[in-house]
Amino acid sequence: MRIDVIGGGPAGLYSAILLKKRFPRAQVEVTERNRPDDTFGFGIVLSAETLANLRRADEPSHDQIAAQFAYWDDIHVQYQGQVLRSSGHGFSGISRLVLLGILQRRAAELAIPVRYAIEDAGPDAHLGADLVIAADGINSAIREGWRETFEPSVDERTNRFVWLGAKMSLPAFYYSFREHAGGIWNLHAYQYTEGESTIVVETTDRAWRASGLTVTDEAATVALVEHIFAEDLKGARVLANRSHWRQFPTIHCARWHHIHRDTPFVLMGDAAHTAHFSIGSGTKLAMEDAIALDQAIGLVLDAAAVDEGAARPQAGTVLEALAAYEASRRDEVGRIQHSANVSLVWFENVRRFWAMDPVQFNLSLLTRSKQITYENLRLRDAALVREATRWWNRREAERLGIEVGGSAGDAPGAGMTGSAGPGAGGVAAEAEPAWLAAPPMFAPFRLRGMTLANRVVVSPMAQYSAVDGVPNDWHLVHYGARAQGGAGLVFIEMTCVSPEGRITPGCTGLWNREQQQAFRRISDFVHQHTHARLCMQLGHAGRKGSTQLGWEQMDMPLADVHQNWPLVAPSPLPYREGVNQVPQAMGRADMDKVIADFIHSARLASEAQYDMLEVHMAHGYLLASFLSPITNRRADRYGGSLAARMRFPMEVFEAVRAVWPAERPISVRLSATDWIQGGLTGTDAVEIARTLKAAGCDLIDVSTGQTDPASRPVYGRMYQAVFSEQIRHEAGMPTMAVGAITSADQVNTLLIAGRADLVALARPHLANPFFTLHAAAEQDFPGVAWPLPYHTGAQQMQTLRQRGR
Ligand SMILES: Cc1cc2nc3c(=O)[nH]c(=O)nc-3n(C[C@H](O)[C@H](O)[C@H](O)COP(=O)(O)OP(=O)(O)OC[C@H]3O[C@@H](n4cnc5c(N)ncnc54)[C@H](O)[C@@H]3O)c2cc1C
Ligand SMILES: Cc1cc2nc3c(=O)[nH]c(=O)nc-3n(C[C@H](O)[C@H](O)[C@H](O)COP(=O)(O)O)c2cc1C
Repeated sequence: MRIDVIGGGPAGLYSAILLKKRFPRAQVEVTERNRPDDTFGFGIVLSAETLANLRRADEPSHDQIAAQFAYWDDIHVQYQGQVLRSSGHGFSGISRLVLLGILQRRAAELAIPVRYAIEDAGPDAHLGADLVIAADGINSAIREGWRETFEPSVDERTNRFVWLGAKMSLPAFYYSFREHAGGIWNLHAYQYTEGESTIVVETTDRAWRASGLTVTDEAATVALVEHIFAEDLKGARVLANRSHWRQFPTIHCARWHHIHRDTPFVLMGDAAHTAHFSIGSGTKLAMEDAIALDQAIGLVLDAAAVDEGAARPQAGTVLEALAAYEASRRDEVGRIQHSANVSLVWFENVRRFWAMDPVQFNLSLLTRSKQITYENLRLRDAALVREATRWWNRREAERLGIEVGGSAGDAPGAGMTGSAGPGAGGVAAEAEPAWLAAPPMFAPFRLRGMTLANRVVVSPMAQYSAVDGVPNDWHLVHYGARAQGGAGLVFIEMTCVSPEGRITPGCTGLWNREQQQAFRRISDFVHQHTHARLCMQLGHAGRKGSTQLGWEQMDMPLADVHQNWPLVAPSPLPYREGVNQVPQAMGRADMDKVIADFIHSARLASEAQYDMLEVHMAHGYLLASFLSPITNRRADRYGGSLAARMRFPMEVFEAVRAVWPAERPISVRLSATDWIQGGLTGTDAVEIARTLKAAGCDLIDVSTGQTDPASRPVYGRMYQAVFSEQIRHEAGMPTMAVGAITSADQVNTLLIAGRADLVALARPHLANPFFTLHAAAEQDFPGVAWPLPYHTGAQQMQTLRQRGR
């Protein structure tokens, strides 16, 4: 059996080692263009988890790696002159040169020939090999040679970075943020051996250009880095080693293997995928790829038979192994790349966080990639979370002018067995008031005259159960149960301002007295029996109207063609060509009618005692379709620039704000991005939010997409929260985050890190109307109001929890 390895980096050497161990008589050979001690960069980091994987895969090399590691537990963050410290992070660093040396020696021990200083001669030189491992790094010639198979995509990021070293010891992973040349320069530093540290410096392309540096002038780079970070380096010398300024390419490939004239080639490590250095996972991924490939091959090839040399493995079995290798790695690699992308976006936008208090800046940085959460951080550093929670609760109470507090044991809202309303204050006690230690999700919140008991929100969810727009017993029980469940704010589903503005025949409406009375029944129940506040969401479906119920064929026209009603939109573009109706482009009279409908519905909602109103400008419905350039192709004053596209939605908003009581808040739901090339972006959403804020909008409910079938959202945990964060900081107004937020821990993390003021959950509230009450019990928080008839249930939950401990 013959295995050719191209590239003597971590992926190539480690896979050669593992496969040679498995098949001692196989011919495994590595070709590396550099000499053994040439290496770029300085140190790398590996986690405890990766080390455990390395131990299982090859104990001798693991032991040597572990012996050479510099370990540290702390992260220090220098921001605005303060250094913030946190603990419990458990990293280890090693020099890349030392790591490669260990792998090179281990390869020699196993009699693996590594041909140094030799350029790979190209694919045809490997014909006849049973397997060719292309571990040829980020610029992989093998990957680029067969682009049609691998389908690589390269997302070249905007920031500039350089990898340097410094002659200094560091007690912690160290970040520093400093201003220079109109930009913020980030230093990421860690020690990899006594007296030597890696430093990666990055900044925006604009600041880098303004600084006058060039890509390859190492002397100038060293001088500038020593100048900017003089206080951090404390006189330590900065070292360069092919330290060129680059822009990070995030690489994805649709496939990782290719057959060339019966010879199988497989991509591994950076050749197949990259993950931004800010989560330090490139070497981990490369070495874990090698482990996965070895295991996959071990499962399909009989080592004894291969060793006998009797039979070469059949091409089919190798292919089976390569398919298994890909299948086993795709999810993990995707997960890490996703975290790395979220992390790099944070570093590209440090300016967004520049006005933050140091405590929150630190939390924002630590939780940026979603791997570290509020609870996870508590396990690492309980004191940090305790102090940060106190700081956040106090700051929020002061900022919002909410008088919370009382003696220990009291908290905003009410006791486990009490029923006081939000903001129930008490006398300051000698002991620190318990509300300061409350998890962020239980902090009260205020918008105009409306105070919420906590930050949890039931997101609007269409029930498709109304008849002629009239809500019925289903709606009473549905909304009633969710209000009983403890959320501070409950949204009513998109309620349409006219019959022709409905999405489906089952949508609720608010254009007549019968509907108003039915809605009044719901608000009376909620106000009499719970502490929740109610928000009415008003919308008009536009071109997405006249479709089937959510659980039928969603977004498809009604099956009975005679039942469909005519649609209006900014432009005559159907939602799906040839499937959905072509809407009529709105004229001025249509616009006036829609504005009048919104005014009428808002008045009815106000009389029905709704505490808050939301105008739906998201998800491709009528007002959203004016905002997006994908759906608005008008040539008049309502189309073209963003300002022009906003004109009609703003007319609606201003008309509604004028009739909605001044002491009650109004929010707007936005799709902060269309997820379509050429569509709305986060930057546009900030502009829209600023304009809405100036017109009296109190909160942006930040959703995304659903504008058009061409949308390609990037899903993941809390995937829309980054847009909430952007709008909150850049437009300077309250926001609500929503989307794949499923746990109390995530809610707390988003709030304390400043990513949102309120957090909405939709589907989790369908599965569990009592999400908030359960979250309180799970966090031993006594300050939410269980309905009085449910107290014994609350007590039992508490007892079970105590026993469970
Ligand atoms: C600034 C920065 C900081 C980083 N920090 C970390 C970190 O802290 N932790 C971490 O784990 N990772 C880090 N990485 C990533 C890490 O360096 C890589 O992800 C890792 O080295 C990938 O291993 P690899 O074997 O796939 O590729 P490489 O290490 O790039 O190895 C590929 C090898 O193939 C050789 N080669 C290429 N083409 C040919 C050819 N035609 N013929 C012969 N030889 C060839 C190259 O010379 C090279 O030695 C960082 C990267 C950067 C840029
Ligand atoms: C059944 C269902 C109905 C929905 N109806 C509405 C609606 O009427 N108005 C609205 O703005 N969003 C609606 N949404 C979107 C949700 O409010 C929310 O933004 C989305 O489900 C993402 O949150 P989640 O991941 O917590 O479910 C609906 C979602 C679901 C699951």
